[in-house]
Order: sequence, then C-alpha cells, then structure tokens
Amino acid sequence: MAHFERGAVMRTASAEVRAGGKGIDAARVAHSLGRKAPLIVLVGDRDADEYCRLLFDEKADFRYTTYLGSIRVATMYLEENSTVTTIVNEEGPTINESDWSKYLSEIEGEIKPGEIVACMGSFPHGVTQESITELVNLVHKRGSLLLMDTAPRFLSFGLFAGVDIISPNLDEAESVINAASEDFFTGDIRDGVQRAKNAALKLCEMGVKVALVHAGELGTALAYKSSVDFLPAFPVKVVSAVGAGDSLAAGFSLKSEEQGDVTQMDTIDWRLSLAFGTATASASCEMGRAGDVDPVRVAEIFKQIRD
Ligand SMILES: Nc1ncnc2c1ncn2[C@@H]1O[C@H](COP(=O)(O)OP(=O)(O)OP(=O)(O)O)[C@@H](O)[C@H]1O
Ligand SMILES: [Mg+2]
Repeated sequence: MAHFERGAVMRTASAEVRAGGKGIDAARVAHSLGRKAPLIVLVGDRDADEYCRLLFDEKADFRYTTYLGSIRVATMYLEENSTVTTIVNEEGPTINESDWSKYLSEIEGEIKPGEIVACMGSFPHGVTQESITELVNLVHKRGSLLLMDTAPRFLSFGLFAGVDIISPNLDEAESVINAASEDFFTGDIRDGVQRAKNAALKLCEMGVKVALVHAGELGTALAYKSSVDFLPAFPVKVVSAVGAGDSLAAGFSLKSEEQGDVTQMDTIDWRLSLAFGTATASASCEMGRAGDVDPVRVAEIFKQIRD
C-alpha cells in the first residue's frame, strides 16, 4: 500500500498469499543454497491442504502433522517507497497433547545425530513448559543440538529445559532476560552493539551454550562460554528485512553442520558460522520474499566479511 495509517480504511495496491513461518524461511534458505534441510510443520487441519499446496508449489522438502483448527495468519503491510512494515500476528487455535505428540514423533523420525534442529517461530496455544522440555529431551536423545528462534515465552521455556543455541533479536533477548512483555516491540537499536553483547553474555549465564543476539542493521553478538564477539552486518540495499533473522539462523546452522558433529562444541568455529549466517542474512535483505537468497551473492558477501 502507499501508506499505512492507523485508524483509517485502506486499500492495497496488490496482495499475495504465501506459506509463511520462520521455519519455512529457514528451509527456503537451505533450498536456495542447495542444502538438504527437511521442514516439519504443524498446521491447522481446516486449511492444511491449501497451505501444503503452497509449500509443494515452491518445491519445499516438507512433512507435516495437523492439529484442530485454522492456520494462524500473519498479515504484513508493506508500504511503497519505504522499508516500513506493519505486521499483525493472529492468535490461532490451541493444540492438544495428542496432536503435540504426533508432531514430536514426526520430528524424531527426521533427526540425525550431530546436527542442529532449528526450532523457529511461535507455537500454538497449549504448548507448555512440559511440551518444550519434551522437545529438548527428544533432540538430545537423538544426539543433536536444538537451536531456538522463537517468541520470548518459548525461549524462556527452552532455557529452563536446556536448549543449546538461541538466536533472538535484541527486543526478544531483553524480554527474556527481564521477563518483560513480548506483545509490543519497537525495534529500538540505540546502543545496540553493547546491549546485544550484554544480552548474549547474560543468556549464556542463564544456561544456553551459544547465544546469538542480533540487532538488525547493526549486526549480531555471539557469546560462547564466557566470551563475546560482535559481527557487524554487511551493508546492502534493503528490499525487505523481514526474515533476516530467520536467514541468519539458517546460514549459521548450515555452516556449523558443515564443520562436523556439532555436539563436539569446542571443535566448531562458531564465529565462522556467524560470518556465514550474517552473509546469508544480509543477502536475504536484498530479496523480497523472506528466506530467499541468491547463493552467488551469499558466497560473495561471505568472502568479503572474512577478508
Ligand atoms: N538493513 C540491514 N542491512 C544488512 N543486514 C541486515 C539488515 N537488517 C538485518 N540484517 C542482518 O540480519 C540479521 C538479523 O536481523 P534482525 O535483527 O533484524 O532479525 P529479526 O528481527 O530476527 O528478523 P526476523 O524475525 O524478521 O527474521 C542482522 O544481525 C544482520 O546481520
Ligand atoms: Mg527473528
């Protein structure tokens, strides 16, 4: 639309329906980079067919299980000649224990030892501390690490349950640390480098093994054990920064897995993984659809970051 105005009745110039979700963004990154990363989605049974068709059409490598209700919709209002985006996330239905167990079984069948299971986005209502503990235990039982890039409430559940890697943005990280509201984030990145470093270290103190705290165009703090680093973002001409964090998590995971058994954590160069994640995230900003990246551009930016 030309401009989003609170309280007004507006008309959009065009509209597009996509299969969305952070896991899908991450899977798209893997697909664009020619890497195998099966996506396991949990979808409302009422419109599961339509959703799966959208995934099928984009040749996603996916499995799914359902729960009762309609799929949760996120509406993004993009403005012309502007990078301002307004997003409204719907609540969606509540999952019961048996549908959650079905989903976990599907995940269990896909995990291979020594890899990263990336758990991205929001969970339905009905997912509790116990549900997340089950997920963390399942991943550990299968000999892998769990990365979470989810809403703060679930990150807190993950921290309590022993999640290995987390990748929040600055707002989300500070919300977890301060046990503060997660309903309204402003994307304020003033003094972001120092805040991200402090937050990453604090999250490690709280029990996570690797913390990536990203602050949009500034870049990402990485804490592992008791040391912290900050990698600036690579400047690009931004078409859309939606899903930049998802692309970062995907690139980071792929580069980590490339280095060998990720559970041997001291043998992995996490900074190298972050450099690749940053290249992936920056390249994703140059494309309109979340998770899309040009592999040539990723390689180019990765080389420049490392030189
Ligand atoms: N304007 C930008 N220019 C270059 N790189 C960017 C820009 N915005 C973000 N990035 C890269 O993407 C990473 C993640 O960005 P950000 O913190 O905005 O993620 P996010 O808020 O989690 O986004 P989302 O949840 O939509 O995926 C940054 O650390 C940076 O490397
Ligand atoms: Mg994010």
